[in-house]
Amino acid sequence: MAFETEELKAIDKIIAENLASKDQQKSPLLPVLQDIQKFYGWLPEKALIRASQKLSVPLVSLYGIASFYNEFRLKPLGDYHIVVCTGTACHVRGAPLLVSELERTLGIQVGEVTPDQKFSLETARCVGTCAVAPVIIVDGEYHGKISKKEVQQLVTELREEGE
Ligand code: FES
Repeated sequence: MAFETEELKAIDKIIAENLASKDQQKSPLLPVLQDIQKFYGWLPEKALIRASQKLSVPLVSLYGIASFYNEFRLKPLGDYHIVVCTGTACHVRGAPLLVSELERTLGIQVGEVTPDQKFSLETARCVGTCAVAPVIIVDGEYHGKISKKEVQQLVTELREEGE
């Protein structure tokens, strides 16, 4: 697929803004990658190639940074992105069961995307709502005090919604 002109402009704008940043002491690579990820939700190769050209940095260096930091994604998320909190409060209230139920139901492991691209699954450390542990987040929406059965229902509803 051709790299759309609008996307090119967006990447160029991200780079220009970061290069114009007042803090000239710091390398712009990290903030550029962060902003590209904000734009796409992940780091597509086409965007990294453009950044490599504009910043005169080898593509392999950008991949090196993107692979080193956990915050970066080199694969797109699913239509529904599910995050299970595995912080201490959630762990003791059943988060491991929720993770294994989701892995079983979706047929993927944490960090993967279903083959139909509908679901992606990740875990996170304490998402800040321990009082309602265990917590999962679906596309930014928090589901607290959620049981294994409710997780199954939620996935079923999302599957039906996506059809
Ligand atoms: S440990 Fe899960 S919200 Fe804090």
